[in-house]
Amino acid sequence: MSKPVKPRIAILISGTGSNMDAIIRACASGRLDADIAIVISDNPGAPGIKKARSAGIETFVSRYGRETPREESESEIADVIMKRSVDWVVLAGFMKILSPGFVKTFRGRIVNIHPSLLPSFPGAHAIRDVLEAGADFTGVTIHIVDELVDHGPIIAQEEVPILPNDTEKSLAERIHEVEHRLYPRTLQQLLHDDV
Ligand code: GAR
Repeated sequence: MSKPVKPRIAILISGTGSNMDAIIRACASGRLDADIAIVISDNPGAPGIKKARSAGIETFVSRYGRETPREESESEIADVIMKRSVDWVVLAGFMKILSPGFVKTFRGRIVNIHPSLLPSFPGAHAIRDVLEAGADFTGVTIHIVDELVDHGPIIAQEEVPILPNDTEKSLAERIHEVEHRLYPRTLQQLLHDDV
């Protein structure tokens, strides 16, 4: 009997890749029933790229916004994704804003994780911004990506308290703990029609 086909995902990163790592581990342990077809980075120096390679996953580094214009880089990425018959595009700390054209190509199939309770504190510095605002709590949001920044239908959210002596580093560590648990679990539900 042939094995059931698993949903195929492409993971897009820009940096450390700790969320990517959590997804890799969840796939390896069977908590997330998916195949990681490729890991794509816009940043050749992203530590996550090395981690993906050492896990035996195919990688692609885009020249995003360096030698090539954004549209060209995005259509190259879209091409790489489509050639691998990917079902879902998973953003895991991908810090570039995707153009409406890219979002249209994969509409409803791009998912993002963000370190705040959206719609509060979108953007690249959500943890710093929430501390500067003097809030008592923040959190993690997982959502489907639309044309706006850190915006689109919310699939999962979890609150994270802000402690009196929190620094950007200590709060980021606690947010990451939640992210690493919540992202694989939410992806499992999303990819298997359970949300
Ligand atoms: C994560 O905290 C993720 O939520 C955030 O970048 C970090 C990447 O960490 N994403 C955004 O801010 C998107 N606007 P990682 O590379 O260790 O997974």
